Amino acid sequence: MLYDRFNRVLKNLRISVTYDCNFNCIYCHHEGWSYRDGDTLTAKEIGVIASVAKSLEIDEFKITGGEPLLRRDIVKIIATLRELKPRDISMTTNGFLLEKLAGPLSEAGLMRLNISLPTLNREKYRMITGVDGLESILRGIEAVYSYKLPITLNIVLLKGINDDEYREFIDFAQRYEAKIRFIELEPIVIDVKLFRKLYAPANKIIDYLEKISVSKIYRELNHRPIYILGNGTKVEVVKWLGNRYFCSYCNRVRLSPNGILKPCIMVEYGVDLKPFLRPTVDFDGLRNAFINVNQMRIPYNIVYHDFHEYSKGDTSSVDVSNSKCI
Ligand code: 5AD
Ligand code: SF4
Repeated sequence: MLYDRFNRVLKNLRISVTYDCNFNCIYCHHEGWSYRDGDTLTAKEIGVIASVAKSLEIDEFKITGGEPLLRRDIVKIIATLRELKPRDISMTTNGFLLEKLAGPLSEAGLMRLNISLPTLNREKYRMITGVDGLESILRGIEAVYSYKLPITLNIVLLKGINDDEYREFIDFAQRYEAKIRFIELEPIVIDVKLFRKLYAPANKIIDYLEKISVSKIYRELNHRPIYILGNGTKVEVVKWLGNRYFCSYCNRVRLSPNGILKPCIMVEYGVDLKPFLRPTVDFDGLRNAFINVNQMRIPYNIVYHDFHEYSKGDTSSVDVSNSKCI
């Protein structure tokens, strides 16, 4: 089991399988990459990397994008991960292609899904994502539910757009036994001006949940409160502003579509794994890369007291060598 310099365990690998997306969400953080280049890893290469991760006791895999369902071999990727018998295989998707894929994904071994659903209003949906896709997403959610895959709905809060829709979301989620995750907009890669315009604190929702919930627990990751409502629905709130424990229990590293393993969504440096994959696989090299990237992990919000300063996510010019963790 790997622990970083701040005694944080490493047990989760987020695998971004493509930069491509069929949507253009106004808030998209692009998984922290402001540029894209290089060859995309094959399903087999992703499997090799995941097997090395598993040998280091990293046994939760989350597939992300872009939009992961745009990869034609997405079912194969899931099946390859399943062979490793990890504790968890999940995926974050915009849901547009789920209606057809829910069945094959479930059969291949996907264990649960996070579906981005910023609004339940068709017109707002089109405005936020650039696609008139709400109907397709709703059919996708039906399909996922029929295959009994647990669903989490990801709702990024946007000022004046969807920050008053929380009651509707709570009713909607109950129908699909889904968990809700309200997420404060994070200042990653997006334009600062846009961020200032759209950022809505989760405080109003938190006040509401404090009133109507029957109990509250905390998830270590991001110190997220999870409210349990009378009808059994779980509502999680991801609040970074003013949350000094946000990064304290982070347990993940991230793989980009072109094979860069990086320590945190907020940074754009990491280790390129391709030289350890091509022309032949160097398992020791891959293992050492994981060990090195683990050493590069830092609790970002504590090292950089002012999260806002770096709101474009471009930290390439920031010298972290003298940073202190408090
Ligand atoms: N801030 C917070 N969450 C974001 N997501 C995408 N961009 C942002 C952002 N700027 C979330 C979406 C998606 C998940 C992959 O990340 O909810 O579901
Ligand atoms: Fe970004 Fe996801 Fe929206 Fe695509 S669906 S634009 S990856 S937030």
